[in-house]
Amino acid sequence: METSFSTSAGDADAYVALVFEDNDLSPAAAELEKASDGALSRAMKASRFTGASGQTVSIVAPAGVEADRVLLLGAGGRDKLDGDVVERCAAAATRSLLTSGATNAALLLDDLEVEPVSLARAALGARLASYRFDKYRTKLADKKKPSLAGFTIVSDRARAAKNQWKKLEPVADGVDLARDLMNEPANILHPESFAEICEGLSEHGLEVEVLGEERMTELGMHALLGVGRGSDKESKLVIMRWSGGEEGARPIAFVGKGVCFDSGGLNVKYPWNNMAEMKGDMGGAAAVTGLMRALAGRDAKVNAIGVIGLVENMPDAAAQKPGDIVTSMSKQTIEVLNTDAEGRLVLADALWYTQDRFNPRTIIDLATLTGAMVVALGPHHAGLFANDDTLAERLTAAGKWAGEPVWRMPLGASYDKMIDSDVADMKNVGGPSAGSITAAQFLQRFVKDAPWAHLDIAPTAWKSKSDDPREPHWATGWGVRILNLLVSKHYES
Ligand code: BES
Ligand code: MN
Ligand code: ZN
Repeated sequence: METSFSTSAGDADAYVALVFEDNDLSPAAAELEKASDGALSRAMKASRFTGASGQTVSIVAPAGVEADRVLLLGAGGRDKLDGDVVERCAAAATRSLLTSGATNAALLLDDLEVEPVSLARAALGARLASYRFDKYRTKLADKKKPSLAGFTIVSDRARAAKNQWKKLEPVADGVDLARDLMNEPANILHPESFAEICEGLSEHGLEVEVLGEERMTELGMHALLGVGRGSDKESKLVIMRWSGGEEGARPIAFVGKGVCFDSGGLNVKYPWNNMAEMKGDMGGAAAVTGLMRALAGRDAKVNAIGVIGLVENMPDAAAQKPGDIVTSMSKQTIEVLNTDAEGRLVLADALWYTQDRFNPRTIIDLATLTGAMVVALGPHHAGLFANDDTLAERLTAAGKWAGEPVWRMPLGASYDKMIDSDVADMKNVGGPSAGSITAAQFLQRFVKDAPWAHLDIAPTAWKSKSDDPREPHWATGWGVRILNLLVSKHYES
């Protein structure tokens, strides 16, 4: 779907107009009400529509109106109209029109006080809501396919909005990429093919390096390598660099868990627990990749590093066994008591490598790390762990603004003790309680002194059903927007 900005609705066949609380019509809605001789108020009354945020009512073929359809969107309080509301409204409109038969929508925001940045966010909302993953559906009936091809934001500030969109469109592209990577099944997207896709990103100006098992063995990355031993695909470490900042300035680094399929390994998961979802256990790596694509696409004035550890966790004669002791790149030894706690093993070496080689000013990892995080937070927040209050506050604020909220969780010595091992430096599971926290403590043992945050995105990386219109079925691409905003607010020169 194409988004555009214009000062007029052009030949749109669907007009989208806002209505505020208590049926308070926006200027565009008021005009349509007049032109249609009161059709809007009749429709609102007939469908218990009050203008509360999230409500929609669709009026087809209204007399006196050029378009075939008028979609009214509840926008809540008139004084609360900001970028977030506009983004959600555009997303709700897109969702409602996507397969409706309408081909070109015009969101009528003229004569409303909306900043150009917020107008650009309307386009972002529309783009996020229009995402589909249909490539394997060869028999989808025509009438179930999207009809909506264009979405125009109508405002007298169209020109300024278009300029703002230049900075946001690459973010939408990054989210799309993260979602695509997530949605691909594990027979198609495995460590080798994922790494190849990353290599292709060099066309956007990223410097991409791929390390294979031989190089990782030389580096002593046996925590990561141990996880991939049961797979017939080669494990990979991908390093993506974006050098848009001052030469020599310390980079911000992002590290992602890229378990392309997590069967649990020899501690195999219960097959009836929807093991198929574990094709998405590379959600952290997908977000890092999408983010790097976004930073490059908008020519961000920052030096950024993305490192993703790509493996498959499979049972096999060669697979790592419960009780194995592995030596990580940091030289710390790990007793692998449960092969299903594999994400932290991958991240241990990926985090160490990143710090060892790049000495980042800040380091942030993303991982679908623990089922316990889903139990704790449900689908509405990702878990945030940090060794630095400023970084935690920045991430919390960025998450709120970007629509990807996080909730801070505790770290501390008493939790750290829970992963001490009797035979090695640490064990990879801490027992039945505080599972997300002991996983984070494990990661912290591989963090040197830079400000560090860990985002446990198990709750948010995919959702079987979301009431947020910006989130399509399943993969959300969670992480691209919050981190892009964090970078643009605090790390660009
Ligand atoms: N990838 C899973 C975590 C997960 C579970 C993500 C459900 C999304 C939804 C991770 O590798 C895992 O298996 N974790 C175990 C840890 C346990 C063995 C200590 C878990 O959460 O059960
Ligand atoms: Mn696992
Ligand atoms: Zn996993």
